[in-house]
Amino acid sequence: MTARDAWRHGATALAAAGLPEPSREARALVRAASGVDPWLDPGAVLDPAAEVRYHGWLGRRAAREPYAYISGSRPFHRVRIRVRPGVLIPRPETELLVDAADRLAPHGAHVCDLCTGSGAIALALAAARPDLRLDATDISGAALAVAAENAYQLALTERVRLYGGDLWEALPPTQAGRYAVCVCNPPYVEPRELAGLEPEVRDHEPRLALVAERGFGEMYRRIAAGAGRWLCAGGWLVAEVGADQADAVEALWAEHGFSDRFRLRDLDGVERVVGGRWAG
Ligand SMILES: C[S@@+](CC[C@H](N)C(=O)[O-])C[C@H]1O[C@@H](n2cnc3c(N)ncnc32)[C@H](O)[C@@H]1O
Repeated sequence: MTARDAWRHGATALAAAGLPEPSREARALVRAASGVDPWLDPGAVLDPAAEVRYHGWLGRRAAREPYAYISGSRPFHRVRIRVRPGVLIPRPETELLVDAADRLAPHGAHVCDLCTGSGAIALALAAARPDLRLDATDISGAALAVAAENAYQLALTERVRLYGGDLWEALPPTQAGRYAVCVCNPPYVEPRELAGLEPEVRDHEPRLALVAERGFGEMYRRIAAGAGRWLCAGGWLVAEVGADQADAVEALWAEHGFSDRFRLRDLDGVERVVGGRWAG
């Protein structure tokens, strides 16, 4: 099979599956599976192993599995993060949290990342800031296993420690009052909203990573209420929020004593991050 034929066949299959950019995605799959770009080298014949790989990947993508699970990684900030089913694929808007923490963390600070998933935020921050030490937590063993692989892969195991458990309860008690910045991207989709999400998200990413089962307000309230024990005086709590949640989350930050509050917008203009300072 030539690269051109593979591309055409793939684009037809992905269009039938309802993907919005079938031709672009089929080209990327041919390239990833065979190393041949069908646009640049349409007559190249795929070797049999590449052809089998391509058809396998095409079937998975036509079943709306996210491309990052098929390729096994996703670029995030200045690092590449491994992902697989069972862990959330890091999103571009979450890079805002990395940049915010980078700006707010003083030299040599301790930072924590609650709900770390693949470890994306903690590891990108550690890679950008060799002076920082990070503690990252998650309640999912599957997610922590991926985070550990990523930490190893990026040679960051010395400065990024991983802990399992429910939100703040996972952190070692010796760290109480020591964090200059706590970042968090918790599950914030309301249970009733799940059905309306794209199939890639709804049917393939872990519900535990997406859905705030008792509502996003309860999740952020627990985060705000617990933060004071862990932040140092003047430390910052910075969280990603869902579209239209910034008002409610900022109100929770205010209610729990956070001052100098700020919000950040993503490239689409959506308010995605809410931060505030703990007076101590
Ligand atoms: C939205 S994902 C964020 C993953 C990663 N930080 C990122 O930005 O790509 C939320 C993560 O929170 C974890 N999680 C869900 N409930 C939790 C809880 N009660 N305590 C700690 N982690 C939790 C999930 O396992 C998931 O990895």
